[in-house]
Amino acid sequence: MAMITVVYVSSAVLLMSPTDLLDLLRNSRERNHVAQITGMLLYRDGNFMQVLEGEERVVDALQERIRRDPRHRGMICLLRQRLAERAFGDWSMGFRNLHELDERERVVRARTLACFARQGPETAAALPSGSKLSASCSR
Ligand SMILES: Cc1cc2nc3c(=O)[nH]c(=O)nc-3n(C[C@H](O)[C@H](O)[C@H](O)COP(=O)(O)O)c2cc1C
Repeated sequence: MAMITVVYVSSAVLLMSPTDLLDLLRNSRERNHVAQITGMLLYRDGNFMQVLEGEERVVDALQERIRRDPRHRGMICLLRQRLAERAFGDWSMGFRNLHELDERERVVRARTLACFARQGPETAAALPSGSKLSASCSR
């Protein structure tokens, strides 16, 4: 059973209210738990970034279902690769609305994701702190 991780970005068709986001999350978490999908979802100003991890066929099918979801469009897949071990093993779908973070935390998280997309989950997960992360991922 091959495990993969997929990272994509997309744009909401309409701005999502906190209630819209909660609904989306609640449903996703339930389904992901059953399907043994882990990962996280970030949202800010109408833009999504999501990481999905799990069994290859399950992740591919889910990504296709998400791609067809009319709540967003313009999905761009940044990463699809084999995974030896989950980076988000405890999260059926971690979530952050980046609007609620202060500026410093926002920068750190954006860099974590950029690093993740460039270097893969093992490297990004292994990076210990925001400052070291920004140093190693500033290239
Ligand atoms: C940005 C975004 C992320 C989503 N993430 C998930 C997810 O992680 N898991 C999931 O089951 N559905 C997710 N969905 C919802 C799916 O697109 C879909 O509505 C849901 O899986 C139900 O599919 P169905 O109506 O074909 O049964 C997401 C939707 C959007 C817009």
